[in-house]
Amino acid sequence: SRIGILGAPITVAQPIDGVDLGPQSIRYAGLVDRLADLNLAISDYGDVPVTNERSHHVDPKTNLRNLPIIAKNNQLIADYVYDVKKKGDFPLVLGGDHSIAIGTIAALHHFYKNLGVIWFDAHADLNSGDTSPSGNIHGMSLAVSLGIGHDQLTDIHGKRAKIKPENTVIIGARSVDQGERELIQDLGIKVYTMHDLEKYGITHVMEDAIGYLHERVDGIHLSLDVDGIDPTYTPGTGTPVSGGPTYRETHLAMSMLYDAQLLTSMEVVEVNPLLDQGNKTAEIANDMIAAFFGEKYC
Ligand code: ARG
Ligand code: MN
Ligand code: MN
Ligand code: MN
Repeated sequence: SRIGILGAPITVAQPIDGVDLGPQSIRYAGLVDRLADLNLAISDYGDVPVTNERSHHVDPKTNLRNLPIIAKNNQLIADYVYDVKKKGDFPLVLGGDHSIAIGTIAALHHFYKNLGVIWFDAHADLNSGDTSPSGNIHGMSLAVSLGIGHDQLTDIHGKRAKIKPENTVIIGARSVDQGERELIQDLGIKVYTMHDLEKYGITHVMEDAIGYLHERVDGIHLSLDVDGIDPTYTPGTGTPVSGGPTYRETHLAMSMLYDAQLLTSMEVVEVNPLLDQGNKTAEIANDMIAAFFGEKYC
């Protein structure tokens, strides 16, 4: 099938400007040519027309920053991703901050009974207004997709949960807040932390994750937060955390996902070229996207 590219340049779900330039920085690093070299058909539908009027005010009642605009933007993203998927394309969504997963997953959930999600990230993004240390909604998008959070976010494209906890896998976690840890325990979400990666290796972790989801789901969305990768390789991102998977480990993970032939959509988030060394982070994002779509070293 054809790959349908959509930019989703939300930035107000985290505090640093520049992540709205993520989609363009990934395109300028050569995305379409790179995928075309794999003999894939591609349509770039441009960017979802989100707006980013920023306020630094945290609503004391909800502990959320910029809720109304983020809800409106994600409604738009859900509408656009829905249309791309409806055409039969393979959605490839370029963020923007990680709040865009709220819209992406809300759209995708219409097409599956049991949508699986692989959340490749240094963080769990399982906060809500009740637990968040920051009020930043990019740290809440996985919780929202599981039906936890403010109803203006959870009720986009249908009430509450869009995915089930047992169909959700987190890989690369190394910065998890107390409330998130409790939610992981309560819901039984499968988490492969950096400890698991160090102890068992990326090959084993990916085989285990793929095997686990394979039995349960009828489609898998990869949500790739570039801060999941070690910041040596992806410095252009707002919340870097040391001690992540290397270029080689991440590349192997992407190749294994391709080889499994189970993935049905992808998003790449949190690329901020204003924090970068040149356009390095977007270039490495391109390497990972290409591996995910089947590019081999030889
Ligand atoms: N856990 C922190 C918070 O909730 C950081 C979240 C970072 N999320 C991200 N998508 N980069 O504020
Ligand atoms: Mn993250
Ligand atoms: Mn529903
Ligand atoms: Mn994230």
